[in-house]
Amino acid sequence: MSRLVVVSNRVADPRKTAAGGLAVALGEVLNNSGGLWFGWSGKLAEGDAEPQLNVQQAGPVTLATVDLDREDYEAYYVGYSNGVLWPVFHYRLDLADFDAGYIEGYRRVNQMFARRLLPMLQPDDVIWVHDYHLIPLAAELRALGCTQRIGYFLHIPLPPPLILAAIPGHDWLVKGLCSYDVVGFQSEADHEHFCDYIQAEAKAQPAGEGRWRVFNRTIHAGAYPIGIDVQEFRGVTEAPEAAEMYERMKREYSRRKLLVGVDRLDYSKGLPQRMRAFRELLRRYPETRQSATLIQIASPSREDVSAYTDILHELESLCGSINGNYGELDWMPVRYMHRTVARARLPGLYRASRVALVTPLRDGMNLVAKEFIAAQDPEDPGVLVLSRFAGAAEQLKEALLVNPYDTEGTAAAIHLALQMPLEERRERHQSLLATLTRYDVHWWCDSFLQTLGQAEAEETGTPWL
Ligand code: ADP
Ligand code: G6P
Repeated sequence: MSRLVVVSNRVADPRKTAAGGLAVALGEVLNNSGGLWFGWSGKLAEGDAEPQLNVQQAGPVTLATVDLDREDYEAYYVGYSNGVLWPVFHYRLDLADFDAGYIEGYRRVNQMFARRLLPMLQPDDVIWVHDYHLIPLAAELRALGCTQRIGYFLHIPLPPPLILAAIPGHDWLVKGLCSYDVVGFQSEADHEHFCDYIQAEAKAQPAGEGRWRVFNRTIHAGAYPIGIDVQEFRGVTEAPEAAEMYERMKREYSRRKLLVGVDRLDYSKGLPQRMRAFRELLRRYPETRQSATLIQIASPSREDVSAYTDILHELESLCGSINGNYGELDWMPVRYMHRTVARARLPGLYRASRVALVTPLRDGMNLVAKEFIAAQDPEDPGVLVLSRFAGAAEQLKEALLVNPYDTEGTAAAIHLALQMPLEERRERHQSLLATLTRYDVHWWCDSFLQTLGQAEAEETGTPWL
């Protein structure tokens, strides 16, 4: 059997808590299959010498990471990845900072990753590259003579061609994507955007089911919505730490219905919009003032990018004003925490909540929506209020779908969720859980790797970047 080599910017020990869908999902996949996980250590290099490779064993997974020097961190991670690609791919041209120097750093780090990874590769490895930080990596590996099959999965949305085309160098990026043998997206919508782009801008020709002839090679492209490990998550839900959390929450909120939000503190998550909808709920439906409490946990994220500090201040001010205006001596409407919660405790919190608010303005998939469903008691399940702009909305049709920009509409949906009769909650939950179980993280990994396995070796192509 071939060894799986996963490459991503963020590498996390699968045995520890990580906030971010990519690290959580890849940890689960690699824990199962074993293999090598290569990427950034999350640390800055000291001194001028080329950073050492750090290698450590985490169960069946070998973690190999490199530090970044400050200049690369600023240009590649803060600048190009999170100041250009992240906002534009999330349809936020207004937040993009197209500084001409960033792209050089982005390219430099991708070249460095290729150079450091190459000596570790074995001839029949299958290489799977993840996310927007590493789009040009296959081309850089090929330029160094790598002939193994290489797949790519984009964890975030891909916008329509006209938005993508706002990025200076967008054609170079898409050419980079076309250096892979298989390119996977979270949703059919994202996949369609890619197909539209390569047909319009690169004269791609269809070459059979899911295949395209483009830049003198054949590539596969498709939607492979990422899932969670449902069995494992239900197991964690029943383990002592989550069970204790559940009991505590139930006791504490015995007279109130709990609403929960769990996110990285990111402008794509629609947190201020969510708070405004919650405020509208309290204003419009006075009975909720004594009966509902929202727990919002937002983990710190990318604090060196200015748009993230702006959103932090906006959120803090909204939570403060809601509590100031609606709070009572014995009740605070919002409990806001700016931190990461231990992974073992999350399921207990989800299970104790009647409603989950997953209302991003744009999201590749959103795993919190899936975790919430998996953690519910099927006899008395909670209700998922889900943004139609999350990739998950393509699959989770029995959730209450909302437009997060529509404050009144979202407040009305939350109200409906709080009042939903048991029978309807059960029916919706049953269908949602069935979808989740069928399309779990193993389905995601197996179906992607199966396509990659079928990709013809001779199509690995010549480097042309
Ligand atoms: P993203 O990848 O954009 O952060 P997802 O919803 O797909 O969004 O994945 C987030 C993952 O990180 C989930 O597994 C979730 O449980 C975890 N997570 C997010 N916020 C927190 C938090 N505050 N504390 C603990 N885990 C978190
Ligand atoms: C999203 C991205 C991941 C990223 C994660 C956390 O899930 O798709 O690539 O790892 O957010 O962000 P960070 O910048 O801390 O890695």
